[in-house]
Amino acid sequence: MEQTQYSPIIIAIDGFSSSGKSTMARRLAATVGYRYLDTGAMYRAVTLYALDHGLFLPDNTPDTSAIIAALPSIHIDFAVQPDGTQHTLLNGKDVEAEIRRLRVSEAVSPIAAIAEVRHAMVAKQQELGRDKGIVVDGRDIGTVVFPDAELKIYVDASAETRARRRFKEMVEKGAAVNYEEVLANVVHRDHIDSTRAESPLRRADDAIALDNSEMTLEEQDAWLLEQFRRAAGL
Ligand code: DC
Repeated sequence: MEQTQYSPIIIAIDGFSSSGKSTMARRLAATVGYRYLDTGAMYRAVTLYALDHGLFLPDNTPDTSAIIAALPSIHIDFAVQPDGTQHTLLNGKDVEAEIRRLRVSEAVSPIAAIAEVRHAMVAKQQELGRDKGIVVDGRDIGTVVFPDAELKIYVDASAETRARRRFKEMVEKGAAVNYEEVLANVVHRDHIDSTRAESPLRRADDAIALDNSEMTLEEQDAWLLEQFRRAAGL
């Protein structure tokens, strides 16, 4: 029987924070045997570096020129763990837990809005996706990073649904947080991420919208797999 050649594709998943993008991207990647790239983790790692090196002005806003100057000293990689999960490395150090803390979440949006930071991260993301066969999640993946991605998903869910998810996640990790604080952080970040001048979050014209507020994980997995099969021509 003649074997048809299967070409790997790029799957771009964009959406607001805590929309469930990472979970769906990770699960889809595992199911179809693709790599997974969490671009939010990269902006978080830059933010952690800035926090740890005091690259903030007295009014607590990022010291943009110091951060730009530090970019050549910031090396971000990902290490696959024995259990298959992926950890973010900042200059060789595993910072996976640290970049998920509230102090990083609270400081990341203005840093992700710096054009030079974005250019450096986007270049790295494009390099990592060169061979395709990858699921990439973020805010500007379908619009800027991989505008030719064969499959683009734009995930939407209300701020309250997303805050509830993040709150639950943090409580499960033992963090002492309150829901109102988490909701305020989600709303604040939505605003910065969608109104910044440099590649704001927006749905690419050819992205498929998914509102997963009322979907179970299994329903979401099945829906995604269907989209993957169609886009990959399987
Ligand atoms: O998805 P996340 O919450 O881990 O993202 C962290 C921050 O990084 C968030 O403020 C949005 C920003 N981000 C971005 O600007 N572009 C991306 N491709 C991914 C994340």
